[in-house]
Amino acid sequence: MARVLLGITGGIAAYKAAELARLLVKAGHEVTPILTPEAETFIAAKTFEALARREAPRELYPHLVHADLLAVAPLSANTLAKLAHGLADNVLTQTVLAFDGPVLAAPAMNPRMWAHRATRENVAKLRERGIVLVGPDEGELAEGEWGVGRMSEPEEIFARVEAVLARRDQLAGRRVLVSAGGTREPLDAVRFLGNRSSGRMGVALAEEARLRGAEVTLVAANLSVPPPGRVELVPAPTAAELEREVLARADADVVVMAAAVADYRPAEPSAEKRPKHAEPWVVTLEPTSDVLAQLGAKRWHGQVLVGFAADRGETGLARAREKLAAKKSDLIVFNDVSREDIGFDASENEVVLVTATGERRIPKAPKERIATEILDEVVKLVTK
Ligand SMILES: Cc1cc2nc3c(=O)[nH]c(=O)nc-3n(C[C@H](O)[C@H](O)[C@H](O)COP(=O)(O)O)c2cc1C
Repeated sequence: MARVLLGITGGIAAYKAAELARLLVKAGHEVTPILTPEAETFIAAKTFEALARREAPRELYPHLVHADLLAVAPLSANTLAKLAHGLADNVLTQTVLAFDGPVLAAPAMNPRMWAHRATRENVAKLRERGIVLVGPDEGELAEGEWGVGRMSEPEEIFARVEAVLARRDQLAGRRVLVSAGGTREPLDAVRFLGNRSSGRMGVALAEEARLRGAEVTLVAANLSVPPPGRVELVPAPTAAELEREVLARADADVVVMAAAVADYRPAEPSAEKRPKHAEPWVVTLEPTSDVLAQLGAKRWHGQVLVGFAADRGETGLARAREKLAAKKSDLIVFNDVSREDIGFDASENEVVLVTATGERRIPKAPKERIATEILDEVVKLVTK
C-alpha cells in the first residue's frame, strides 16, 4: 500500500483520470485527488472522492509529508508550463512545488501544443528535475486530429506508478553507468558517419536506474531526446570518446551499454571540409575497438554487464546468444532492427532478454516500460 497524490488538470482526458484513480484504489493504494479549478469544469471532484472512497482533504500538508508519490494525469500544457517555472497559483501547483518525493506526469494536449518550442523547453526542464513523464502517445485526439499528444492509457500510467513505487530502493548505494545515443565518426570537418539511434532507450534506462536509487552516470553520444535529471551527464560524441569515458568508469557496479557505437570509422578524417568534386570520394573505414568486449575482459566479480545487440531476425537472436558468452556479459538485450515499428529512433521497442539461464521476450511497449523490465533483470543479477 502506498499513499498517492493524484493531480488532475483541465483537459479532455480528465475523465480518464477517474479510471486511473480506480486502478490505484483497487491495487490497495490510498489516493488523494487534487483537482485544479479548471479540471473541475471537466469532471466533478465528487467522482474522485467516490472512487478514492474519501473526501478531498481540507488540509493538504499532512498528505504532502506522508505521500509516497505524486502523479499528475492529465497534465495540461498550461500546468506543465507553470510547473516548469515553479508557479504555485492553485492547490495542485502548490503541491508539486512543495512535494519532494517522486513525481510522475502524463501530458495530454493538442499535437501542435505538444510540438511548440515553448512546451519542448518546459518538458526538458521537468525532465532535468527528474519528473517522470509517461507519454503522450500518438493517436487520434478528441478534436479528430492525429498526432502525438494523447494521454497514455490509464493502465500504462498505473503500471508506471506501480513500477516507481515497487522499485524505489532496489539499487540504493550502487553505481550504474549507462551509455546512450549513437556515435558520429568524422569524415571531414563538417561531415560524419552516424546511425539513427536517438538515445531514448539508454535515457529511459538511466532514468529507471535513478528511480531505483542508483547513482547514475550517463555517457551520452548525440542524444536527440532530453537527458534525465539528477544523473551525471558525460558527453561522448565519437566511438573513441565513448570508449575512453566508459572505460574510465568501468568500476561501476552495473554497466549498461545501450549506445549504438560505430563498428567502423573513416580511417583518415580530413581536418578541413572536402570541397565538392565531380569524381567519387573513396573512403576507407577502419574497425573501432569493441567497448563491451573490453569491459568483459576487465570485469570484476559481482559486476553486472549488460550489452545490446541490434540485429535481424532469428539468426540475429542466435548471434546475440553467442555474444553473451563472447563478451562475458550477464545480459544481452536483443533488438530486431529488421522491423520498422520498433527499435532505432522509435518510441516503442520489443526485445528479447538473453541471460545464461534463459530468454524472456518482452512484447512491444514504450521504451520506458522496456527499461523497467531490463532493470528488473539487472536487480536480480546484482543481488544474486
Ligand atoms: C474542451 C476543452 C478541451 C481542452 N483540452 C485540453 C487538453 O487536452 N490539454 C490541454 O493542455 N489543454 C486543454 N484545454 C485548455 C485548458 O483547459 C486550459 O489551458 C486551462 O487553463 C488548463 O488549466 P489547468 O492547467 O489549471 O487545469 C482544453 C480546453 C477546452 C475548453
